[in-house]
Amino acid sequence: MPHRPILCVDDEPNNLALIRQILQDDYRLVFARSGTEALQAVAKHDPALILLDVEMPDIDGYTVASTLKDQPETEHIPIIFVTSLDQEVDERTGFASGGVDYIAKPVSPYILRARVSTHLSLVRASALNRSYRDAIQMLGMAGHYNDSDTGTHIWRMAAYARALAEAVGWERERAELLEQAAPMHDTGKIGIPDAVLKKPGKLDEGEWKIMKTHPRIGYEILSKSQAPLFQLAAEVSLYHHERWDGSGYPAGLAGEDIPESARIVAVADVFDALTTKRPYKEPWPVERALETLRTSAGSHLDARMVEAFERILPRILALKQHWDQQESRT
Ligand code: C2E
Ligand code: SIN
Ligand code: SIN
Ligand code: FE
Repeated sequence: MPHRPILCVDDEPNNLALIRQILQDDYRLVFARSGTEALQAVAKHDPALILLDVEMPDIDGYTVASTLKDQPETEHIPIIFVTSLDQEVDERTGFASGGVDYIAKPVSPYILRARVSTHLSLVRASALNRSYRDAIQMLGMAGHYNDSDTGTHIWRMAAYARALAEAVGWERERAELLEQAAPMHDTGKIGIPDAVLKKPGKLDEGEWKIMKTHPRIGYEILSKSQAPLFQLAAEVSLYHHERWDGSGYPAGLAGEDIPESARIVAVADVFDALTTKRPYKEPWPVERALETLRTSAGSHLDARMVEAFERILPRILALKQHWDQQESRT
C-alpha cells in the first residue's frame, strides 16, 4: 500500500505544532491552515486520515467534510474533528457531515495517538477487504470469463447461497464466509477449452468428460491457500456437482456425505443457471426454475435445501432483482 500521510488542519499554528509533536515520530504528516488549503492538500496528497479543526475563518470544518464526502475520490477518507466546541449538537453536526470521530481541545497526546491508530487500522482493514473482494471476483470471473459474463452473476448466486445457509441455521459469520466462497465455485472452468465451454448446443460424451474436470481443477487451485475462506471455496468447488442420489461428479458422493456447503451452493447455482442466460440456453421464468428445483429435490438436490429455498423465496427474489439491476447497469 502506498504510504499516505495524515493531513492536519487548523488555522492556529500552535495547535498544528502540538499535533506535529505528538504524531511526527510515527506518521508522515502534511499540514493545512484553512479550509481552502485543506481541500487543496487533499487533492495533492491523498491523505489516509484527516484531523480537522471545526472553527476556521474561511470554510469551516463541517463544510470541508461535507465537500469531501460528496466526491467519490475523497468520500472514503476518514475525518476526525479536533475542536474546542463540545456541545452535543456540534457532535451531531460533525457525525452527520461525515466525521468518524471527535477529539476535544486541548488535545491529549494519549487520546490523539489512540484514535489515529484505531482509524488507520480500520482504513487498512477495509483496503484489505477490498482486495479480498477483488481477488474473489477475479477468480469467479476466471471461471465464467468464457461464457461472456459481467461478473455480477457470481455475487447474485453468492447472495442466494448466504440467504439459504442462514435459512438452514448457519451462524451469520459462517454464512457470510460461504457468500464469499461461493463465487469461486466454478474457478476450475478456467481449465476448460472454449470449444466446450462456449458450445451453443449439447455437449457430446467427450466434451462432458472434459467439463466434469472443472470441480477438481478449481479445488487444486483454491486449496493452495490455508485461509479458511479459500479452504471453504475449495470444498465447494470440488463438491458442487455432487448429487443427493449419488449420480453426480466427480466423486459420486450421496446424501450427507456431500458437504453441506456444497449442497447449499448446488441449489443456488442451479437456480441461477436456470434463471439466467447461458451459451447453451435462454433464461427460464422463475416459476419454471422452481418446478425444476422441486423435481430435483431428493434426486439431484437435497430436499431440505430446496424446501428452505422456497420458504425464503421472497428474499431470494429481492436479491435477484437487486443483482439483475446491477447487471443491467454494467
Ligand atoms: P452452468 O451453466 O453454470 O450450470 C450449472 C448447473 O445448473 C448444471 O450443472 C445443472 O445442474 C444446472 N442446469 C443448467 N442448465 C440446466 C437446464 O437447462 N436444465 C437443468 N435441469 N439443469 C440445468 P451441470 O449439468 O453439471 O453442468 C455443469 C456445467 O457444464 C454448466 O454450468 C455449463 O457450463 C456446462 N454445460 C452443461 N450443459 C451444457 C450444454 O448443454 N452445453 C454447453 N455448452 N455447456 C453445458
Ligand atoms: C508546525 O510546523 O508544527 C505547524 C505546521 C504549520 O503551521 O504549517
Ligand atoms: C449430463 O450428462 O447431462 C449431466 C452429467 C451428470 O450430471 O452426471
Ligand atoms: Fe460448476
